[in-house]
Amino acid sequence: MSALMPTYARLPVTFSHGEGVYLFDTDGRRYLDGLSGIAVNGLGHAHPGVTAAIRAQADKLVHASNLYGIGPQEQLAERLAGVAGMEKCFFGNSGAEANEAAIKIARLHGHNRGVEKPAIIVLEGAFHGRTLATLSATGNRKIQAGFEPLVSGFVRAPVNDIEAIRHIATNNPDVVAFLAEPIQGEGGVNELDLDYLQAVRQICDEQGWLMMLDEVQTGNGRTGNWFAYQDMGFVPDVITTAKGLGNGVPIGACMARGEAANIFGPGHHGSTYGGNPLVCAAALAVLDAIEGEDLLSHVRRMGGLIRGIIEEQAGATGRLVETRGKGLMLGFQLDRDCPELVQRALDNGLLINVTAGNTIRLLPPLVINETQATELAEGVAELIRGL
Ligand SMILES: Cc1ncc(COP(=O)(O)O)c(C=O)c1O
Repeated sequence: MSALMPTYARLPVTFSHGEGVYLFDTDGRRYLDGLSGIAVNGLGHAHPGVTAAIRAQADKLVHASNLYGIGPQEQLAERLAGVAGMEKCFFGNSGAEANEAAIKIARLHGHNRGVEKPAIIVLEGAFHGRTLATLSATGNRKIQAGFEPLVSGFVRAPVNDIEAIRHIATNNPDVVAFLAEPIQGEGGVNELDLDYLQAVRQICDEQGWLMMLDEVQTGNGRTGNWFAYQDMGFVPDVITTAKGLGNGVPIGACMARGEAANIFGPGHHGSTYGGNPLVCAAALAVLDAIEGEDLLSHVRRMGGLIRGIIEEQAGATGRLVETRGKGLMLGFQLDRDCPELVQRALDNGLLINVTAGNTIRLLPPLVINETQATELAEGVAELIRGL
């Protein structure tokens, strides 16, 4: 009997080490990683640059607290804000914490405008985390059930329905912000429409709302841009990220620009570990590698390759209903639920995920090469054909 609380239904495999896009289990068997620890290990496993940065920083200083200046945190804030098109950063330890910071910024923004009970628009099918506020913002009853009373101050809207947002703008004076993932990850790799997001930006401007994007999963090169919003022709006020930022060390960031960047003052928010020297040194090495290895265009190419092969080799089965996603965040919706494919893939030495019941989700490392991407795609196509 394990002494762990059984919060996860774990697959029957334990990994001992990894190298690039491969993981090795405790029996020495090799697996091609099509999931990257759920969009975390963008640079693959044991990336030499990240490992060296962690080692060098651990030799010097792991933690001293946010009561003092932290050199790597200052450097990371400047670099990350630069690539994200933002001005200021707050560092926490996870995606949920990054979103908690965004929610607090939105509430302060509301109170600053005289709104006593500020509310945030969130979407059906959204996933923002497992803390009480972020699970309340999440649009999935399964995740909320049993944890009532939920945190108040969220107004739910259907995905891609701009009339619903206009209706809320007209009827709900408490709303002060909009929060959404540009591509819903846990919800099934659902892309928000470009014209919808552009129209939301315009309504936010008209209403004085903050437009906040949860790029916890889509950020840090995953979609072929530093952040998914960057080819959409607008800039949000707040972005949250985590996952790929640390390549496995726990770090999350809430970034903001304009008025939103100056809402937090001393005492408004904090985190003992958030942005400590160790994690910031790792994240700086991640940014170096994404830039130095020219990964953004590579991600777009590999995403196109994987998509093309799966559509070509599994399309004729009639089981593939739709391909969604961008870059190396891909969802292949089938005509039936297919949770059993995760175990079948594992048996074949492939790590994949199934989300929303019927959607195969692939989030391979950004560094996957053409041969490995082909192997992954052919493996998935074979699984679909064998259903
Ligand atoms: C879009 C999004 N937001 C927030 C989270 C929560 O991140 P964490 O598990 O690091 O708290 C996730 C995790 O899957 C996510 O995909």
